[in-house]
This record gives sequence, structure tokens and C-alpha cells, in this order.
Amino acid sequence: MIRMLALPLLLAVPAVAWAADPQPFPPLSVTLPQSDSLYPGGASADAINNNCLACHSVEMVQMQPPLGRAGWTAEVAKMRGTYHAPVDDADVPAIIAYLVARDAAAQPPTSSPTQSK
Ligand code: HEC
Repeated sequence: MIRMLALPLLLAVPAVAWAADPQPFPPLSVTLPQSDSLYPGGASADAINNNCLACHSVEMVQMQPPLGRAGWTAEVAKMRGTYHAPVDDADVPAIIAYLVARDAAAQPPTSSPTQSK
């Protein structure tokens, strides 16, 4: 009999504790970082602007070092495969072409002082 009473009692204790403090967490206002910038380049950037802004900002891409055609092809495949980015097949070549062209303007990674002679 005692065992049969124990379970409802165990369940009741947390419920009472919760009721005593109806708002255990104070309301918070969180401002998430926002970016409304677009990829520059006019029409050449249409494909990347249409497909690559849903989840992260332009800066996520612009801060990457030059990756080359193979690197960018793999990167776009990763976005589509791993992260399920809804990218139209027809837009993939234009996105990769944009990113390869961007490499020329990107800063190559700087070598550390210990590597320079
Ligand atoms: C469905 C959401 C989504 C879309 C759409 C998306 N990405 Fe991403 N992307 C991610 C996530 C998630 C990460 C990883 C973020 C992290 O690691 O902090 C990421 C990271 C990146 C990175 C940083 C390097 C890396 O591999 O982590 C690059 C570059 C990138 N994305 C390029 C693109 C390009 C180009 C497109 C358009 C083809 C695109 N993304 C579209 C979700 C997306």
C-alpha cells in the first residue's frame, strides 16, 4: 500500500514546487545579429543572392580565403547535402562561377611571421 502511495506523492512534489514559482525564468529580449547586405556584382550575383542568403549572411562567404573551383564546388555541395540548402540545380554553375571570380578579390591567407624568410 505504501508503495502505491509513493509514486503519486513523488509526482506531486515537483508540481507543487512549480506552482509556487509560476515564472522561474525572467522574460528576456534577445536581439539576434542581422545582416541585410546582398552579394555585390549585379546580375552576376543573382543566383547566389537567390539561393545563399536564407541561413547566413554574405559575410560568412566573403570572409573565406580563396577556395578555387574544386573548393567552391565542394562547399556548395556541402550546403546542399549536409545543410539541405534548397538550391535549384540550374543555379549551381552560376553560383560556383561567382565564387571562383570572387577569389581574385579575396585576400589569400597571410603567412605567419615564423614562415617568412
Ligand atoms: C539551409 C541553410 C543554408 C543555406 C541556404 C546555405 N548555407 Fe552555407 N552554411 C550553413 C551552415 C549551417 C553553415 C555552418 C555554420 C557554422 O559552422 O557555424 C554554413 C557555412 C557556410 C560557409 C562557411 C564555411 C563552412 O563550410 O562552414 C560558407 C562559405 C557557406 N556556408 C556558403 C554557402 C553558399 C555559397 C550557399 C549557397 C549555395 C549557402 N552557404 C547556403 C547553412 C546554409
